[in-house]
Amino acid sequence: MRIFIDTANVEEIKAANDLGIIAGVTTNPSLIAREGRNFREVVEEIAAIVDGPISAEVVSTTAPEMVAEGVELAAIHPNIVIKIPMIAEGLKAVKELSARGIKTNVTLVFSANQALLAALAGATYVSPFVGRLDDISHDGLQVIADIVPIFAQYGFKTQIIAASIRHPLHVLEAARLGADIATVPFKVLMQMLKHPLTDTGLARFLADWEKVKNK
Ligand code: E4P
Repeated sequence: MRIFIDTANVEEIKAANDLGIIAGVTTNPSLIAREGRNFREVVEEIAAIVDGPISAEVVSTTAPEMVAEGVELAAIHPNIVIKIPMIAEGLKAVKELSARGIKTNVTLVFSANQALLAALAGATYVSPFVGRLDDISHDGLQVIADIVPIFAQYGFKTQIIAASIRHPLHVLEAARLGADIATVPFKVLMQMLKHPLTDTGLARFLADWEKVKNK
C-alpha cells in the first residue's frame, strides 16, 4: 500500500515528503480554503515538491465545465490528477477526461456501487470516504472491504484510495483490506510514526551509551 498526504499545506507536504515515504498528494476545495491561498499557485508549489500523483478538484458541476476545468488543471503539471465528484455529470466528465488521457480521482464515494460506476467510467482512482461514513454511524471500512474484491474479480485497473482518514487504525485496516493507497492527514502520519516505547527505548540506549562512550 502507498501513502498519500491529504493536505494543501505546503509546509506539511514538504515535511512529509522529506520522510521519503509519500507517494502523492490529495487536496480538495476545503483544504485549499483552509490555506487561504490561490489554488493554482498552491498546486504548482505542491507539484514542485512531490514527484507523484497530485489530486486537484474541479468546482463546476456540469460535465462540459468539469472537462474544461480538468484540462486546464492537468496542463499545470503532468502529475496532476483531476478530482471529480461522484455525480452523474461527474461520470460523464471522467469518461471524457480518460479518453483524453487525463487521470481522474472520483471523490465523495460512499458506497461500493458508486465505486463500481466510477471504475466503469474509467477512473484512475476512486476515493471512498471512510471517516465521514463513520461520523454518521456507518462502517466506512466496510465500503473498502466491499470494493477490493469487486475490482479484483473484474480486473478493474482503478486504484482504491482510502480517504477521509481520521486515525492510524483506519490506515492499518485499509492496508489489511487491500486498499491501494491511504491518503492521510499530516497529523495522522505523525501518529503512525510515533510509539512511546520507541521514545523511551531510544532515551535509554542514549543514556547507557553516555556511560561508556569514553571508555
Ligand atoms: C481526500 O481525497 C478527501 O478529500 C479527504 O480525505 C476528505 O477528508 P475529510 O472527510 O476529513 O474532510
